Amino acid sequence: MDEPVISVKNLYFSYNSVPVLENVTFDVADREFLAIIGPNGGGKSTLIKLMLGLLKPDAGQVRVFNKPPAKVSYCFGYVPQDVLVNKGFPISVFEVVLMGRLRHHRRARIGGSDREAAARALEIMGMRKYENHKIDDLSGGQRERVFIARALTIDPDILVLDEPTASVDTGGRAELYNLLKDLNRTRTIVVVSHDLMVMYSNATAVACVNRQLYYHDKGEITQDMLDLGYQCPVELIAHGQPHRVLKVHEDGS
Ligand SMILES: Nc1ncnc2c1ncn2[C@@H]1O[C@H](COP(=O)(O)OP(=O)(O)OP(=O)(O)O)[C@@H](O)[C@H]1O
Ligand SMILES: [Mg+2]
Repeated sequence: MDEPVISVKNLYFSYNSVPVLENVTFDVADREFLAIIGPNGGGKSTLIKLMLGLLKPDAGQVRVFNKPPAKVSYCFGYVPQDVLVNKGFPISVFEVVLMGRLRHHRRARIGGSDREAAARALEIMGMRKYENHKIDDLSGGQRERVFIARALTIDPDILVLDEPTASVDTGGRAELYNLLKDLNRTRTIVVVSHDLMVMYSNATAVACVNRQLYYHDKGEITQDMLDLGYQCPVELIAHGQPHRVLKVHEDGS
């Protein structure tokens, strides 16, 4: 088997001694589309921050391209969960996207190649025509696209999105997932989502996180997960048994 892009082994993490993740182990393969699901407070965003090297494990290990994640941060494009709440910042769409290039530079000096990268990323996300608009004047769904464009400016090997569709309507979601599907042809994608459509349309693997992690290396959800509304029962995870997998029927039944 090819070397995994991301490898998580026996990972433990707590905030102020309150355990959030326990004994989490899984690999993400090249060009995988991993959907991370699970209840509120289950530890999804925390897991992502550990994968990105923004948090350090209490025990266990995260490797990205076989290196500590902080050493390869240039491989990641990251769209955080709460990016949409930072309102009241009077800058243009183009400037927001250009900021994605800043961490590439020791000094905050932006040049022609950075502007080209920003324009390209806006084009990919279908947002070029809004480049001179104020970011505050866009709808939630449009802003989400801009923040994905910002993450794409460094042409990352791995694109990580934490609930990208929270403020996107149903039609917008379908479009966004089509875009992500295209992006997945050339890069690995990790998406946290409560949205079933992610699984139906894209995912090649599903991880359900609720302190522990249940990993499923098919882009399918199990009947157990459906029945339990993604509550990821502890016994299901603890036994670690491969269990019954039912393909979701085309008609959703
Ligand atoms: N900075 C922090 N300090 C202390 N506790 C935290 C911090 N961030 C998160 N937590 C707690 O850790 C647990 C996991 O939080 P996390 O944000 O990872 O969950 P989540 O699965 O992403 O939830 P959601 O679906 O609501 O986004 C929660 O109980 C949360 O209150
Ligand atoms: Mg979260």
